Amino acid sequence: MCGIVGYIGKNQARPILLEGLRRLEYRGYDSAGVAVLDGDTINNFKVKGRVAELEKILANQDLEGSIGIAHTRWATHGEPSQKNAHPHSDGEGNVFVVHNGIIENYKTLKTNLEKEGHKFSSDTDTEVIAHLVSKFLKSGDDLEQAVRKSLRLIKGAYALLVMAKSEPETLIAARFSSPLRIGVGADQLIIASDPSAILNYTSQLVTLGDGEIAVIKGTDYAISSLVGGGTIDKEIEEIEWDLTEAEKGGYDHFMLKEIMEQPETVRNTLRGRLISEEGKAVLGGLSRVEDKLRQIERITVVACGTASYAALIGEYMLEEYAGIPTEVCVSSEFRYRKAVIDPKKEAVLVLSQSGETADTLAVIKEVKEKGVLTIGIANVTGSSIAKETDAGIYNHAGPEIGVASTKVFVSQLTVLSLLTLFLGRQRQMSVTMGKRITEELLKIPEYISTILKTNQSILEIAEKYKDYNDFFFLGRKYNFPIALEGALKLKEISYIHAEGGSSGELKHGPIAMIDENFPTVFVCPKDSVYEKNISNIEEVKARKGKIIAVATEGDEEIKKIADEVFYIPKTLEMLTPILAVVPLQLLAYHVATLKDCDVDKPRNLAKSVTVE
Ligand code: G6P
Repeated sequence: MCGIVGYIGKNQARPILLEGLRRLEYRGYDSAGVAVLDGDTINNFKVKGRVAELEKILANQDLEGSIGIAHTRWATHGEPSQKNAHPHSDGEGNVFVVHNGIIENYKTLKTNLEKEGHKFSSDTDTEVIAHLVSKFLKSGDDLEQAVRKSLRLIKGAYALLVMAKSEPETLIAARFSSPLRIGVGADQLIIASDPSAILNYTSQLVTLGDGEIAVIKGTDYAISSLVGGGTIDKEIEEIEWDLTEAEKGGYDHFMLKEIMEQPETVRNTLRGRLISEEGKAVLGGLSRVEDKLRQIERITVVACGTASYAALIGEYMLEEYAGIPTEVCVSSEFRYRKAVIDPKKEAVLVLSQSGETADTLAVIKEVKEKGVLTIGIANVTGSSIAKETDAGIYNHAGPEIGVASTKVFVSQLTVLSLLTLFLGRQRQMSVTMGKRITEELLKIPEYISTILKTNQSILEIAEKYKDYNDFFFLGRKYNFPIALEGALKLKEISYIHAEGGSSGELKHGPIAMIDENFPTVFVCPKDSVYEKNISNIEEVKARKGKIIAVATEGDEEIKKIADEVFYIPKTLEMLTPILAVVPLQLLAYHVATLKDCDVDKPRNLAKSVTVE
């Protein structure tokens, strides 16, 4: 999420910071800002919108100085606006901060600071850092100590840069869970969240580790641990990526980068939202409607495309664990249906990565007219859907650039698990069950990493199957929608005909198509419908159909009937879809790239469908 650039050196900071921001544009953002120290003033300029807008404003401004920080923001706390754009300051023009990540406990910190007389001018979590640092500076600490003390109070994830007028030679960088690198040039240092903002100037990079702080003065930097102190010697790495590679984090495509970052995506989606000891989920965006939600007896989930498949999995989760009757409908159908919804007892839940999908937006407007409670799950903060719904949950998955959704799908499933936990614990779900779900959710990032390590063998299987013209994807119960999503991923990026469906429907038609040229991908982890799936696999096998199975680690039996097996770690049945989709994303990705398809921008498709 967001992008950071900082400069300290012998040249003018402005052109390097702005060039850095332009290099970060590909990540997606909604506002931008820059602050440069000039003598005894720090000049700070921010805009809602593009870097080009910022440049227009700066055209008539003096922005001299050789130390500065800049940022592209992708909103998480507070809508996209000028006041919420970074850099944020302490309100006294002394301390300036740019930050990527999420401060989980910012509300408590903000309330305490307000009591002490601090005045806030944005809705962001970041602003508390500037105020904390300012407070410690006033108590006599130097900038390094002030930042250290502030960070000890902070819970969450961050990459940040701090500068202060009162210590004009110094720039502080710190990191926990969000990337930050220092580019080491001959007479300058460029600090950025992403190498693409650095590589124009130097290929010599130092990576800050989690829990590390860098104190940068002139062209010298000293890195130490935030807790222990003591200088850490870091090796300078030579990064030989070209700039296009750098944007993709060294991967060939955004889609692959986004698949690979899914462990982090799930961590970000879960961050600060689970109380393990109580087996509960905390969803701040629902607090206003918490009591109303307690009364809800039925939920309709509405979405399009990949989000609608996540919704289908949500239906199984909400019914089984929260005991709420749930129905899913694609937005384009729902908006023209005469749906019967009782506003007193029912709610409409909408899912949308972009938050701008026209059909989904139309549904919200329609049901709101009828007085129905609307809840949104969206990835883009401040998007139309986020604004129009009564309450909601953000994905916090960061910008998704590949047109075919991958990491946001996994994040949507994570949010739906959190919502199930939240609503379930409001109802009959026991503490024990709540804890069980909590514990397993926390393990999901590690499980996804395990699957990602099998990428090479998935590539080998993709090579074997890339020339088939047709595929089936089948699954049952929680993994029926994964079969739909597996087929959708393959068809949208490789243009191979692929059908998804439920294994139980095989006999009712699709089996007529099976022969040796029509492979089937079976999503069949060891769950409550495993035996049923195995019978279906036998039926396909008997008709000479090739089988690719997604199975649970340790299931040796399946190797006897399947031609290929992708293994996923064992977890709770309701969470298996989050794991099962990963090998199918990789399969689709490899088949498509082997066929030279443009996976990030498939033909005829748009990332955000803002027309009907
Ligand atoms: C388009 C995208 C899909 C996405 C769907 C719904 O078709 O290509 O990846 O799933 O829209 O978009 P939303 O932003 O509402 O999730």
